[in-house]
Amino acid sequence: MSDEEKEPSPSKPSDLEQEKPKPKRRAPAGRKKPITTKVKKGEEVATATKVGSPVAKKGKTSAKPETKEKPNHLEPRKKVNEAATESKSSQKSEIKPIEEGGKSEVRPKPSPRPQRQPERRVHEHKTKHFDDQARNVRDIANLKGKRPIVALTAYDAVMGKLVNDAGVDFILVGDSVGTTLLGHRTTIPVDMTDMVRHTAAVRRAQPKCLLVADLPFGEASFSFDRLLDSARRLMQEGGADAVKIEGGRDVADDIEKLVSTGVPVLGHIGLLPQTVKAIGGYRKFGGDRQEAEDLYTDAIALEEAGCFAVVGEMIEDAVARELTKQILPPLIGIGSGAACDGQILVSADILGYNTRKAPSFVKTYANLNQVISKALSQYVTEVKSREFPA
Ligand code: KIV
Repeated sequence: MSDEEKEPSPSKPSDLEQEKPKPKRRAPAGRKKPITTKVKKGEEVATATKVGSPVAKKGKTSAKPETKEKPNHLEPRKKVNEAATESKSSQKSEIKPIEEGGKSEVRPKPSPRPQRQPERRVHEHKTKHFDDQARNVRDIANLKGKRPIVALTAYDAVMGKLVNDAGVDFILVGDSVGTTLLGHRTTIPVDMTDMVRHTAAVRRAQPKCLLVADLPFGEASFSFDRLLDSARRLMQEGGADAVKIEGGRDVADDIEKLVSTGVPVLGHIGLLPQTVKAIGGYRKFGGDRQEAEDLYTDAIALEEAGCFAVVGEMIEDAVARELTKQILPPLIGIGSGAACDGQILVSADILGYNTRKAPSFVKTYANLNQVISKALSQYVTEVKSREFPA
């Protein structure tokens, strides 16, 4: 960590306050930890306990990014002389000789400020919106207990529009872009440049639902200032409405500060793909008492930090069911059973558009690999046989 990163951030409490030992994040009094019992042969997982007193929700605000107006690059720029000649005939011009190295030049009167052009839409058809589709973090939080929340990933404008138009409640620009589209073996090489670019592409599809962007590997580990700046880039440059951060207790304090700064945060517990090198592969979580309790503590820490929802990846079904009952924010499952408050999957996996095998919990709804392959081969054949162009 550099000295610069060690500098206390302006939002940090005073030194005096910093000396006070921090209270440990734990479950609030009155809310029981899930007890464990054998539900499967050889496996201990958490089972039902009644919810105790709910924890007060933290205030959440969402900062909408400003839409930057782009100059119109389609019109070729006129040379100064051309502009001067044109302005002579079309409008009043004030031509003043300028002495520069013995030469005199004409300086045209500055033309009136160009009208700002609205940003061009990338798609021709308007994005759909369904009455019950969530549009913001409050809508997502309010769906808990009413109907399952549904989410998918997207990484570009085409998929962003299709996924929105299918009626999802939120789109995640996941760092899974690394493994699904960019050909990486893990999500670890994905960086801020990738995430900002792909988030901005999805934003250009103008989805009506909430747009969440993943914070890539390492960004939450340097300093709070760096974390805040990365979240700011995802929102201001990428156009995200919220960010997702992997981790539980370890990142909860920083999440709390982000939320109070106006950054809505989606938590992520269970299997954390960014730690796959450290944990030695992909596996289910919550299969023994310690892991079930750790998941519970992490989920409560994220609730207290103000996360508007929490993704629970590859958590034992019984533990996920219990967490869903115990925490206030919705638990959005991926490979964590049917009892969660909602479900998220990687769109490329459900569409059969990938170069790797989809995880076993995925249901594939289409085989795009096959459809695309067939179309591409037909094109190659037709060009070679001169059938196309006709
Ligand atoms: O990056 C991603 O797509 C994710 C989902 C799997 C939840 O984190």
